[in-house]
Amino acid sequence: MTTIEVPRPATLVGRDSEIARLKDVLRALPDAGSALVLLGDAGIGKSCLLEELANLARQAGARVLDVAGIEPEAQLPFAGLLQLLGPVLNHVDALPQSQRRALLAAFEIEAGPAPQPFLVALAALGLLTEAAAVAPIVVVVDDAQWLDGPTHDALAFVARRLERTPIALVATVRAGHEGPLTRSDVPVQLLGALDDAASRQVLSRHAADLNRADRIRILAEAEGNPLALVELPAAWRARAIDDGFVPLNTRLERAFAARLHELPAATRDVLLVAAADDEDAVAEILAGAGLLAGRPVGVEALEPASAVGLLSYDARRISFRHPLVRSGILQAETMMRRQQAHAALGDALDGHAYRRSWHRAQAIVGVDDEVADALEESHTIALRRGSVTSAIRALERSAQLTSDSARRGRRLLLAAEHAFGLGRADIVDRLVTAAEKDDLSDLDRARTEWLREIFNDGIPGDAARIRELCAIAQQSASAGDRDLTLNLLLGAALRTWWADAGADVRAHIVEVTERIAAQQAGYDKDPRFVTTLGVAEAVLAAGRVTELLSPIAAEAVTDPDALRLYGMVAHAIGDPVRTCDFLGRAETRLREQGRLGLL
Ligand SMILES: Nc1ncnc2c1ncn2[C@@H]1O[C@H](COP(=O)(O)OP(=O)(O)OP(=O)(O)O)[C@@H](O)[C@H]1O
Ligand SMILES: [Mg+2]
Repeated sequence: MTTIEVPRPATLVGRDSEIARLKDVLRALPDAGSALVLLGDAGIGKSCLLEELANLARQAGARVLDVAGIEPEAQLPFAGLLQLLGPVLNHVDALPQSQRRALLAAFEIEAGPAPQPFLVALAALGLLTEAAAVAPIVVVVDDAQWLDGPTHDALAFVARRLERTPIALVATVRAGHEGPLTRSDVPVQLLGALDDAASRQVLSRHAADLNRADRIRILAEAEGNPLALVELPAAWRARAIDDGFVPLNTRLERAFAARLHELPAATRDVLLVAAADDEDAVAEILAGAGLLAGRPVGVEALEPASAVGLLSYDARRISFRHPLVRSGILQAETMMRRQQAHAALGDALDGHAYRRSWHRAQAIVGVDDEVADALEESHTIALRRGSVTSAIRALERSAQLTSDSARRGRRLLLAAEHAFGLGRADIVDRLVTAAEKDDLSDLDRARTEWLREIFNDGIPGDAARIRELCAIAQQSASAGDRDLTLNLLLGAALRTWWADAGADVRAHIVEVTERIAAQQAGYDKDPRFVTTLGVAEAVLAAGRVTELLSPIAAEAVTDPDALRLYGMVAHAIGDPVRTCDFLGRAETRLREQGRLGLL
């Protein structure tokens, strides 16, 4: 077996201007913090530059905190943020109470109400700021595109607020995977190919023995990509190289995968399980590999993979030589083997309900109700940690695995309702369209009507449609679904508010709303009830609305949606004082919610 030296550049070749820019970032600390994104192709040298920054930062006396995203899904919401902030969590008691609770709930360290993502992000910033009072902090984030979504959002929030802190944040993102960080106004440094002189230097460092013709060929193929300059010579010698029509990434993946053939079966099993895993703990990976192999697999199975330069490891963690090793391994194995690896991980992850259900889901083609149920349950874990987007993903995947049509539709609609809470009309539309293909219960049909209604794809003022909505509301009231009923009625009222549908229709809405509320306990206490009346009949119902609104003190209302509705109806009946009072408070509360991008 050939032993391949794991190339870690002692010094970087080229990249002078990029390094100068990173030094500027460090020099500005402690007075002025900043953030920077390094964007570029796979293998172009982002991680190397980041490592260089970390070294320079340590030499300069800064504290370095780091986290890296990895490709497999199944990561818990905020898993990345916990990894990043773990070393400074001891400062958590210095945070304001609401932030402290939000952060600890997001990490499931303390039980508490589902945290608002805004508060979690604010707490992350606060924690870093506290820790930075001791020494400046440099946050290095590698492969941000593969962080769990809530962590990525939170870091994009933090990155935009560092000017007056002794904190710098530098993140790498692979080109073509733009996300929250690149879409925020954080400056982006594009990392391009090495120039010809630098390319030659890297090549001769790693393949001094190549003849001139081969060297020219590899220089041309590598196009200034340093990973290619390091890896292609070995592949070239082993005749494991694809022709120039295959994209460079794929060729590099295949070059790594070619080394698998030389390895013992147990090593291939460990590599596959490690590639499929969303964490890097040796114990977990060996346990999974043992289940995949059908016999115990010990740490010695890692050695051959380390010897051919595919990974490195210590007693606790495994680290792939490069992300393309991971994707290369997954590509080289069959789909069935990949599924078996996920199934093995699912079994090995006893006690990690969330990750377990995601790995089991990836072990399946078609339907599996047991796994579908487990994923539906894990949506509540996501909600508890404050991530509605992860909850939506879990429900959607759960629906795909569900055999019963009505249940599948119900799960899609539940996901759609969460998407509505986030204001994501695009996702609501996609989910409702999918749910409508299912054999829905009457109540769920009414739900689709409402979900379609809230983004109002019809014509405002359409009298027939408004009467239809009132009729569906009556059905849903009889079925006992208060939320849905009130939502439908409010939807009907809003249609005539935007464009008058005529006195008859307005009176009809009020009549139906009052009748339902008279029959069902608790309806008249709901903010949607009074809002429906006031929005439908701003003039004729003004007296009734005032009577209902006057006992309500804005400062006693904590729910931002309720405040917004009260503000809306106060405005409808022409009460500017109450309008400002309610809406002012609603804004404060809404800012605390998950609309990070809007802040
Ligand atoms: N400036 C450089 N000088 C010498 N070698 C380099 C340089 N940049 C990168 N390399 C080599 O190329 C390899 C790939 O670089 P790196 O891992 O930083 O790529 P990357 O941009 O992070 O890729 P990915 O997007 O896949 O994570 C490194 O392991 C190193 O061997
Ligand atoms: Mg990298």
